[in-house]
Amino acid sequence: MSSLAATDSHATQERAKVIQPAWVRAMHWTNAFAMILMIMSGWQIYNASPLFGFTFPRSITLGGWLAGALLWHFAAMWLLMVNGLIYLATGFATGRFRRKLLPITPGGVASDVKAALTFKLAHDDLTKYNHVQKLLYAGIIAVGVVIVLSGLSIWKPVQLQWLTALFGGYDIARYVHFICMALIVAFLVVHVALAVLVPKSLRAMIIGR
Ligand code: HEM
Repeated sequence: MSSLAATDSHATQERAKVIQPAWVRAMHWTNAFAMILMIMSGWQIYNASPLFGFTFPRSITLGGWLAGALLWHFAAMWLLMVNGLIYLATGFATGRFRRKLLPITPGGVASDVKAALTFKLAHDDLTKYNHVQKLLYAGIIAVGVVIVLSGLSIWKPVQLQWLTALFGGYDIARYVHFICMALIVAFLVVHVALAVLVPKSLRAMIIGR
């Protein structure tokens, strides 16, 4: 086999290994779409009664005004919740969460952080997550659950008063909801930056382009 063909088949194998199952990809992009709608409409809702000393620029919000934003928020909520529930059920039922996200150990996280900071983190098998990735992915799934629960508790504080009480009352639930949004946005920034930057450098390493 010529060296060009060998490089090509290596690249094809790498690509085939990296690709996620179709159901994960479909739910990932549905979730991304719903999340963007929830974040932008949430910012418009926030602007009507800011919790902190700032508001979000109108150009990055959705809905135009409070009532419009609430309509968007409650419409996208169904997409987010149905997709999220199917994702969680499938993740547990197929054993994917256990296989991909466990175990996470403090020692493993510490050594992977050290390896990353010294540019020694192994990228030889992209289908396996390192401990930092496992922690972040498991963490963001947990944040996703908390933002939905806190959202439900501020949406129906009378019908679901036990849930609102669990958060320490309506006002605290609102802060929890906002902080979860901030964590999701921070995760998104890093996640998108890595998705854009890392494959390029890896491609350069793997197939020399
Ligand atoms: C089932 C899911 C959700 C429900 C039921 C829900 C419900 C609500 C409700 C009722 C409000 C209005 C609070 C108020 O009037 O003060 C709100 C605000 C907000 N939501 Fe959601 N939400 C959900 C998911 C999300 C998600 C996934 C995000 C973003 C990632 C998000 C971001 C926001 C933001 C930024 C606000 C404004 C915070 C504030 O000023 O109180 N929400 N949400």
